[in-house]
Amino acid sequence: MLKPEKTPGNTNWFVQDRFGMFIHWGLYALPARHEWIKSKEEIHDEDYEKYFNHFNPDLHDPKAWAKAAKNAGMKYFVITAKHHEGFCLWDSKLTDYKITNTPYGKDVLTPILDAFRAEGLKVGLYYSLIDWHHPHFPIDIFHPYRNSPDAAALNKNRDVSKYTEYLHGQTRELLTNFGKIDILWYDFSYSDRPYNNLPGKGKDDWQSKKLLKMIRKLQPEIIINDRLEIDQDLKTPEQYQPLEWVKVNGKPVVWEACQTFSGSWGYYRDETSWKSPEQLIQLLINSVALGGNLLMNVGPTGRGEFDSRALSALTVYGEWLKKHSRAIYGCTQSQYTAPAECRFTQNGKRLYLHILNWPFKYIHLEGLAGKIEYAQFLHDASEVKWLEQDRIEGNASLASGQEKNPVVLEIPVTKPDVTVPVVELFLT
Ligand code: GLC
Repeated sequence: MLKPEKTPGNTNWFVQDRFGMFIHWGLYALPARHEWIKSKEEIHDEDYEKYFNHFNPDLHDPKAWAKAAKNAGMKYFVITAKHHEGFCLWDSKLTDYKITNTPYGKDVLTPILDAFRAEGLKVGLYYSLIDWHHPHFPIDIFHPYRNSPDAAALNKNRDVSKYTEYLHGQTRELLTNFGKIDILWYDFSYSDRPYNNLPGKGKDDWQSKKLLKMIRKLQPEIIINDRLEIDQDLKTPEQYQPLEWVKVNGKPVVWEACQTFSGSWGYYRDETSWKSPEQLIQLLINSVALGGNLLMNVGPTGRGEFDSRALSALTVYGEWLKKHSRAIYGCTQSQYTAPAECRFTQNGKRLYLHILNWPFKYIHLEGLAGKIEYAQFLHDASEVKWLEQDRIEGNASLASGQEKNPVVLEIPVTKPDVTVPVVELFLT
C-alpha cells in the first residue's frame, strides 16, 4: 500500500482521522452573498464598514457548533481566524479590526477552540495571507481597489514589508496565546498573477521561509499547508476531486480536499447549488479511497448559527458514519482495483467496497480469488455471499468477460436503505 512522504509536522493522527470541518466566518456573513464580496463588488473600506458596525452574532453557541461537528463524525476542524477581508476573530493586539470592537464585543476564538477540544476534536486555524483592509497591503489583482484610477499611486504609500511584519506578528499571537494548534492553514499565494502592472504576491512577499522557521519553533508538531508557496506537510486541492493520490515530484503526499456544501465558503443566503446526500458522502469516500482527507466547510450565519441546510447536510454525514466509520477512519487507498462505479478503502485485512451506483445482483471483483474469508454489509452485518471461479464454471453469464479467477458478490436487487452501501470484506 502507498505511504505518504514524511514531512516536518506530525501527520500521524491526521491520516487516521480523515474527516474535518472547515468554518468560514467573518463580516461577510452579513451581506450573505460570498466571502469575496468586498473584492467582487469592489467595495471600498468606508462602505464595508457597515458590516463591522452591525456584526452581532447574538445566537453564537460554540458548544453547539462543536457538537454538530462531532455528531457529523468530524475529528478536527479549521476556522478562519482572519479571512481576506482582514477582520480578526480574536482580540489581536496588532489591530483594531477585530471582533472585540464590534457590537458583539467579545473574543470568539478561545471559546470556539475550547468547545471543539472539549468534544475531542483537533483544532486548526486558517489565516488569510491576503488582507483587503490592512493599509500596507499593496493593491493587486484581487484587491477591491484594483480598478481605481489611482491604484498604482496609492501603492506608493503601501509597504508590503510592513504588512508582512503584521502577518508574522499575528501568526505569533495565534500560536502563542491559544494552546496547542494542530493545523495552520494559510491562504494563498499568487505570485504569477499580475494585473495592470500590479504584481501578485508569494513567498518573497510573505517571507515564507522566515515565517516557517518561527512557526516550527513555536509549535513544532503543527501541520502547515502548501499555500505559502513552499510545500510543507499538506497539499490542499480545492473544490475538485483528484483522480489519483496527490503527488509532489512523483511521490505520494499527505493531502486534504476542501469542499463546500453549496459553492461559497462564507454564508450565502440565496445559493441554490447545495450538494445531494449522495454527493456529500461520495466526496468523503473518494478522498479516502485515494489516501486523502476531506475538510467540509460550513459558513455560519451573521447571528452565529449553522443554518438548517448546513445542519441537514451534517446529519447526512453523521447518519452514514454512525454505521460506516470502519470504512473511513484509519483507512487508506487499497492495493486492489475497485470494480466500475465502486470505490475501495482498506485498513489492513479489512477491505471496504463502497457501492456508488447500485447494480443488478452481481459485482465482480478482480484479484481477490482465494483471499476473502468472510463478507458482510457494514450497515447491518448481514452476510454477503460470493462465488469464485471454480464454483461458477459453466455459468457463462457470471464468468463471461472476467479475468481468470473472479470473485462474484451476490447482492440483493434492492439497494439497502443507506446513502452509500458498503460491503466489508475480511481478507485472509
Ligand atoms: C480560496 C478562497 C477562499 C477560501 C479558500 C478555501 O482560496 O480564496 O475564499 O477560503 O479558497 O480553500
